[in-house]
Amino acid sequence: MDFKVADLSLAAFGRREIQLAEHEMPGLMAVREEYAKAQPLAGAKIMGSLHMTIQTAVLIETLVALGAEVRWVSCNIFSTQDHAAAAVVVGPEGTPEDPKGVPVFAWKGETLEEYWWCTEQALAWPGGDGPNMILDDGGDATLLVHKGAEYEKAGAVPSTGEDDPEEWGIILDLLRRTVTDEGRWTRIASRIKGVTEETTTGVHRLYEMFKAGTLLFPAINVNDSVTKSKFDNKYGCRHSVLDGLNRATDVLIGGKVAVVAGYGDVGKGCAEALKGQGARVIITEIDPICALQAAMDGFQVTTLDEVVGIADIFVTTTGNFNIITADHMAQMKHNAIVSNIGHFDNEIDMAGLARIPGIEKTEVKPQVHTWRFPDGKQIIVLAEGRLMNLGCATGHPSFVMSNSFTNQVIAQIELFTKTGEYPIGVYVLPKHLDEKVARLHLDALGVKLTKLTKAQAEYIGVDVEGPYKPEHYRY
Ligand code: NAI
Repeated sequence: MDFKVADLSLAAFGRREIQLAEHEMPGLMAVREEYAKAQPLAGAKIMGSLHMTIQTAVLIETLVALGAEVRWVSCNIFSTQDHAAAAVVVGPEGTPEDPKGVPVFAWKGETLEEYWWCTEQALAWPGGDGPNMILDDGGDATLLVHKGAEYEKAGAVPSTGEDDPEEWGIILDLLRRTVTDEGRWTRIASRIKGVTEETTTGVHRLYEMFKAGTLLFPAINVNDSVTKSKFDNKYGCRHSVLDGLNRATDVLIGGKVAVVAGYGDVGKGCAEALKGQGARVIITEIDPICALQAAMDGFQVTTLDEVVGIADIFVTTTGNFNIITADHMAQMKHNAIVSNIGHFDNEIDMAGLARIPGIEKTEVKPQVHTWRFPDGKQIIVLAEGRLMNLGCATGHPSFVMSNSFTNQVIAQIELFTKTGEYPIGVYVLPKHLDEKVARLHLDALGVKLTKLTKAQAEYIGVDVEGPYKPEHYRY
């Protein structure tokens, strides 16, 4: 088996944590039981690009339990938990000397070159084949396949790309080496039945590609299952934003001024958590609806320029770029904490910060750095501007990820087994499946659901068994 992880001797520790996580992931375990016999993913070759954590290990082993062959990478250079990666490679039946699990290419603290190398490895199936399914988080695996196929069609790889020039240089170098006249990426793309996408940012990319007519295979937008974005993005971040701040800095949050940029699902969770710790939370927003929600929830809403000099903690949650500029950082208080929990690192202008003449970067510990300005003032930047809850802590806890990942497994089964029903496009799972995911998590929390009477169901115009809400309902 080919793989590359940090240290296989961590596998036993990883396995013990996987066993604890399985108990906290009732949705995934119920799906394993429901489909154990039918093996709906037999024949599926799933390439996954999603934070290689303990929770993801339970997802991977669920896909395998349903018959899939799997190869995996992390979708962020800092988010791998090395013991989880080791345990997945070794597998429940293997040993570090004789691993019998799943090929993983991921370790905590990859360089960007290594990150894209890993992505390419996981897309290269032994025997020259590619995968026939992608499970993506943020869209990097989907992007590599699409760009490879696009440049093969054009007959050349361009010399510069979009977005971050450093990262694009690395992607283009990789493609220059791997684009072939026989159309290696075109062949990979043509075999793929579909992709299931985990997060807001990746979903955004998929809709853009579909609109531009460049999407090469169908996609299920897992993020917009209600049991994903209204749970993982909100309650998951409500938990893990504090975990990131605490593990990175251990600063007392009560009494501090915290700015949360963006009041979408992630911003709502972060703001509630910081408020719960006693911080005075200030929101920035561009959308009048979300700004009004924040105001009604009791938060001051203003612009970053107004409060940049008084805040102690900054968290960006927008999925947009250039939210905190180098100029903003120069105006911050001494030891202000600057962090991002959105998918990509461009929410904070790290490149601009590094260009300030005389600025000095010091590592306090991995993923925590001080940046000292020439006037002696410094700020603390978490996870180099990458998602701080996975870079500085261990991401969301198992129970909330069980909701997200149960959607992922159901979406993989949908696209793999009903390919003909999904022409190229971007779809969300039907509401009855969304309700099913929620239902699978109720018992564990001791929730007793009220059952509709037939007459009540008729009165509100739904089926006794659901779905209970129209498509336009917003929760
Ligand atoms: P969302 O679309 O619900 O919220 C983003 C909010 O930011 C919107 O309300 C938007 O109006 C606002 N916004 C956009 N530009 C802004 C600007 N210049 N200033 C202030 N506000 C601005 O998206 P969601 O679901 O909250 O996700 C946000 C990001 O977090 C995405 O990149 C997503 O992929 C990522 N994410 C990260 C997770 C993690 O564990 N770190 C978990 C889930 C999502």
